[in-house]
Amino acid sequence: MSTSITLWVDTDYGFDDLWALLVLARHGRTPAGISLVAGNAPLTRVIANARGGAAAYDLQAPLYAGAAQPLVRPLDTATRVLGPKGMSSRGPMLPEIPGAALPDAIPALADWLLAAAPNAPREILALGPLTNIARLLTEAPEAAQKITRLVWMGGSNGPGNHSPRAEFNALADPEAAAQLAAAGLPLEVADLMLCRQVTFGPEDMPATDVLTAGLLQGYLDIGLSRGRAGMAIYDPVAAMVYLRPDLFQSRPCDLSVSTTDDDSYGETTFAPNPHGTTRLVTAATDDIAQACLACLSGWTIP
Ligand code: RIB
Ligand code: CA
Repeated sequence: MSTSITLWVDTDYGFDDLWALLVLARHGRTPAGISLVAGNAPLTRVIANARGGAAAYDLQAPLYAGAAQPLVRPLDTATRVLGPKGMSSRGPMLPEIPGAALPDAIPALADWLLAAAPNAPREILALGPLTNIARLLTEAPEAAQKITRLVWMGGSNGPGNHSPRAEFNALADPEAAAQLAAAGLPLEVADLMLCRQVTFGPEDMPATDVLTAGLLQGYLDIGLSRGRAGMAIYDPVAAMVYLRPDLFQSRPCDLSVSTTDDDSYGETTFAPNPHGTTRLVTAATDDIAQACLACLSGWTIP
């Protein structure tokens, strides 16, 4: 599978992040690089998950270590929801793969961007808190200007999922999200409200290998354990927005993110603006859940 020199993925490597990478792989896309960021779990655990995912699914993209802390607020991970590894399973977990320290993410991401020919596509799929991308804006602004497309799973044009008013990726680093919102980059947002339109339940489980089945069931249990009939599909939907924007509806807007340290912290607002540089993805026009689930079948796990 050829490396997609035009694509970079930034991720806090929970199961849905891994699932998004499998969606990309099933569409023939291997990122030029994967930068890791604390979010679903502390960075050391995110790195371990990335190493385990690469080994189990033979994912070839080079891994880079990004931010272990948000820009300003204290680190708040999702381990109280997802378990200490930032993902859970009803069966086996990803293998634990030792390795030397990973190269730093920001210089690698900057080098990738600066190596682009003028006007060559340089597209980022961001699946976690935006700390790494915000640090790129500050530390390598000339590189950041080379970003031609940034698709982010994050924020909510409605209630939140990590606080009543804020979605996790936004609340995990509101200052980073606010910097991205103000940067004028070509941003496409697959928010919580879009992802909650794309769900699956026990009756939708695909035929997969044992590892994938256990991890998917562990992810489904996040919804079932809250008395819901199923679970929303988060990061794989953002991967589908990246791959097939023609299957979605969206609207131009101005994104703003609350950095006020009260119950609005991390809240995202998508104010309609026909000239806005952000597009809020509002609906899917196809069976995206089935498309995402189908990408989990057929993997040969060593
Ligand atoms: O709110 C859902 C998002 O937070 C997903 O990207 C999930 O992986 C976590 O990062
Ligand atoms: Ca994620």
